[in-house]
Amino acid sequence: MIELTAKPVIKTINQEILSFISNLSFAPRLNIIRINNDPASEYYVTNLVKKGEKIGINVDVINMPLDTDEKDVLQLIRRFNDDRNVNAIMIQKPLPGGFNEDILTGAIDPDKDVDGFHPVNMGKLLLEKDGLKPCTPLAVIETLRHYNITTRGKRVVIIGRSNIVGKPLAGLLLYKDLFGDATVTICHSRSEKLSDITKEADILIAATGKAEFVNKDMLKSNSIVIDVGINQIVRNGKTSYVGDVDFNSCSKIAQSITPVPGGIGTVTTAMLLKNVIKAVNIQNKVDIFD
Ligand SMILES: NC(=O)c1ccc[n+]([C@@H]2O[C@H](COP(=O)([O-])OP(=O)(O)OC[C@H]3O[C@@H](n4cnc5c(N)ncnc54)[C@H](OP(=O)(O)O)[C@@H]3O)[C@@H](O)[C@H]2O)c1
Repeated sequence: MIELTAKPVIKTINQEILSFISNLSFAPRLNIIRINNDPASEYYVTNLVKKGEKIGINVDVINMPLDTDEKDVLQLIRRFNDDRNVNAIMIQKPLPGGFNEDILTGAIDPDKDVDGFHPVNMGKLLLEKDGLKPCTPLAVIETLRHYNITTRGKRVVIIGRSNIVGKPLAGLLLYKDLFGDATVTICHSRSEKLSDITKEADILIAATGKAEFVNKDMLKSNSIVIDVGINQIVRNGKTSYVGDVDFNSCSKIAQSITPVPGGIGTVTTAMLLKNVIKAVNIQNKVDIFD
């Protein structure tokens, strides 16, 4: 069994970012709006700031009080939309109750929408047009591309139909490309005889949010397993992170698997920074990344 680790993938991504930035006369800027005191979110943004610093991208975190009014957040988003020095905007989740995520996402200039969640960008993705695309689906494609796992003509099964992972990923896998052109099936909690479907997959992608949900009895032998999941668990009093795939069981039968941690999640962070560069491209109407 081969582990499809993130390390070599992010090395390539970082080299691409560095080479792009070396030709710029300014440092790209990502502004993150954060209205929570969630420790996981704190860890994530601190990590992003550090990674950005290392690579030449300014990542600014705007911490707002929990009792902030939605109108103030909208005003801030509009200010960043109009600010030529801000290339990318992200709203950190979770948001406090009462905020309408759709309204906030919809207020971001689609050309600065680094998460790729704006309806305009989702539409462009489905229409195979240039635009900002969600980072986790991009991370899956980038990982497949790095390891030269072509999807053309293959049966790819995704478990999970969320707007941020399953649906956009299915769209990318339908692109007319060597790392698209797949025969895609999306499963969800209402899918009947799930194992019968997953056993047909040449490539199985798990995005269920259920720790170690996929086991070896759900796999075709020699299949490729992509684990998108990140779940915090406590085992024997110790906190750790596992994916949506039972790695030990599946490694007995799969040809290759992405590990957790050190797999798709790590590539996703790198793709977010690459998306900042993509946003700079779009704003300056150049086409360095496809
Ligand atoms: N690597 C990264 O950077 C990254 C980014 C985002 C998310 N994640 C991780 O990826 C996983 C999925 O995230 P998400 O935001 O897409 O989750 P989500 O919005 O909760 O969606 C989960 C999907 O899995 C389906 N599902 C749940 N239980 C199932 C079952 N027993 N059988 C079949 N399908 C089932 C759900 O079906 P229904 O639609 O019918 O409810 C839903 O479509 C999570 O572990 C999350 O932490 C990782």
